[in-house]
Amino acid sequence: MEGIAKAVRKHDAFLIVDGITAVGGLENHMDAWGIDALVVGSQKCVAAPPGLSAVALSQRAYDALHSETSFYTNLKAHVDGLLKGDTPYTPAVPLFLAFREALRQLKAEGLEARIARTRRLADACRAAVGALGLRLFPERAFASDTVTAIRYPTGVDDAKFRKALWEGHRTVVAGGQAQLKGKIFRIGHMGICSFGDLEAGFRAIEATLAADGHHRFSKGAGVEAIQARSRSS
Ligand SMILES: Cc1ncc(COP(=O)(O)O)c(C=O)c1O
Repeated sequence: MEGIAKAVRKHDAFLIVDGITAVGGLENHMDAWGIDALVVGSQKCVAAPPGLSAVALSQRAYDALHSETSFYTNLKAHVDGLLKGDTPYTPAVPLFLAFREALRQLKAEGLEARIARTRRLADACRAAVGALGLRLFPERAFASDTVTAIRYPTGVDDAKFRKALWEGHRTVVAGGQAQLKGKIFRIGHMGICSFGDLEAGFRAIEATLAADGHHRFSKGAGVEAIQARSRSS
């Protein structure tokens, strides 16, 4: 990110970062890295309901804000309102309360502790993927600590697999999007996700793969990999 920031500055441009699946789960050093606008979604690492977005701005970005934009998305009005402890228009009050409670929980855990726990969960998830003979979608060096993308083994149908997971185990994984649709599935392990959640998810994945005729692993291998990581962390 620092490298990108330097390149952006050379062109007198702004660096706007989609931190929706990062803030609260991965290291973020907005000032040190030179980020001008960092966008956060309530529904990911903060573990609040979906519906709110927060944006942090550098002074440079704030100074460049103007009001020639649509009425509600006038960011300057929101920032200036915040300085007075207010919002420019009626906010989604229940969501604000839920977001505040989620932030309280994050504060109680500690940001660094949550980031470290997210890293351990990611490590356990990747270990379970390997134990089931599955392959990560990105190269290991680029794999995120907040979500794991896994390639479908040959012969596993995306829609059928996810339907069976839901109907048989009440477990939801996300599919791929655009050119990756049908090729990968994704497991989120951010926010308040626990080792227990991860284990339950992999128990379901394993059973669903086995019921579909995929036996390239010994029974319980994924769950055992997670338990081993959970004990050692
Ligand atoms: C980096 C990033 N930005 C934005 C989004 C969109 O979030 P949602 O699908 O919850 O609207 C996602 C979803 O995974 C994401 O990973």
